Amino acid sequence: MNQLQLFLPCAAGVEDFLAQEVHGLTGLAGDDLMASRGGVFVRGSWRDAMKLNLYSRLAQRVLIELAHAPYRSENDLYAIASGVAWEIWFTPQQTFKIETTAQHSPLTSLNFATLRIKDAIADRFRAKAHGVRPSIETQRPDVRVFAHLTTDSCTLYIDTSGEPLFKRGWRQDTGDAPLKETLAAAMLAASGWWNPETGAVSAAPLYDPCCGSGTIAIEAAQIGLGIPAGALRRFGFEKLLPFQPHVWESIQNEAADQPATVSPPIFGSDVSHRMVDFAERNAERAGVAEAIQFRGGDALQRMPPEGAPQGGVIVLNPPYGERIEVGGVARIGAREQAATEDGGEFFSQLASHWKKNYAGWTAWMLTPDLQLPKRMRLKESRRVPMWNGPIECRLFRFDMVAGSARAPRP
Ligand SMILES: C[S@@+](CC[C@H](N)C(=O)[O-])C[C@H]1O[C@@H](n2cnc3c(N)ncnc32)[C@H](O)[C@@H]1O
Repeated sequence: MNQLQLFLPCAAGVEDFLAQEVHGLTGLAGDDLMASRGGVFVRGSWRDAMKLNLYSRLAQRVLIELAHAPYRSENDLYAIASGVAWEIWFTPQQTFKIETTAQHSPLTSLNFATLRIKDAIADRFRAKAHGVRPSIETQRPDVRVFAHLTTDSCTLYIDTSGEPLFKRGWRQDTGDAPLKETLAAAMLAASGWWNPETGAVSAAPLYDPCCGSGTIAIEAAQIGLGIPAGALRRFGFEKLLPFQPHVWESIQNEAADQPATVSPPIFGSDVSHRMVDFAERNAERAGVAEAIQFRGGDALQRMPPEGAPQGGVIVLNPPYGERIEVGGVARIGAREQAATEDGGEFFSQLASHWKKNYAGWTAWMLTPDLQLPKRMRLKESRRVPMWNGPIECRLFRFDMVAGSARAPRP
């Protein structure tokens, strides 16, 4: 299992940060590590695959490539899947699920393509295991197979993660628009607060003034305290045949033996006290309650946290598509309030509040609203493209230098 071809999918825009993270975690480089659109190819060992599952904050999954071949029809897919030695990965007593994605595939039905791959796997097991074949289970399968089809090539992967890696195991209380943990980590990487290659964090205090269920703050605190992203969860590889519990235990022990680190001060606040409650409970589960101060309050009124007199870094995904009333009462999901869908005056007031009270701070805001700097009457000093699922976003950086934040030219 030394030279596995791994693929780690990630949100578009995050590939280079993920490649840095993989390099830092495994030491792999050169031909063994290649960023591509939507993910990173890694040539590594089974141990690397387990380590990446445990530590990576940016990967959505760790997949092992088992076949890559040209195809033109569903019958070709059947032949490609029949040629894979599935029996070295799982047993016919286990359940499995196939997920197919496609980019410009000429096939008319992805369902039928998936069915042919499923038939090939079942038939191969039937032939090898005296008539016994694994069954399909779509909700909680033991094993997940991924098929990716392009115009002319089919790639088959077996998954080692199980539930996607953004599910860290601590976020049980959420609001309406929680940010994926992987994207929160990507924002921290893009802001420079966290260096995904070395694992180092900046000494600057971090503040999310619209913290919702606390994802950004909790992710930051876990990084600051050196808690592995997957410390609280199980992984798909535990159900695969090559799994050796003692090797996994040694990886977990290594993680537990890391010297404790101290996190810089981290703060979160939200206008909704219910959200603050959720954030506190999530932080408790994530083992970082001591490292974060959560408060209630309107972002338009909150002054810089007392523990950050010299400034710091603001990181947030602000409300979007919500009605924000005077006094900061947000009615989440009130889509019928079309007149205020753009946040109305909220963003220009936020910018004025920051210019007046947050001199010396740098703010990073993730939004699908490309007009946000104009709405804030601020000129961004950086814009990083990032995708939140299918939604194209920008992470804007604003530097709060008192009196000098420039308005964009009309
Ligand atoms: C897009 S959500 C943030 C989600 C958060 N990152 C998470 O992962 O849960 C925006 C948050 O802004 C909060 N909000 C809306 N108006 C606000 C205001 N004026 N001041 C502070 N927070 C506000 C909402 O309550 C909501 O929790």
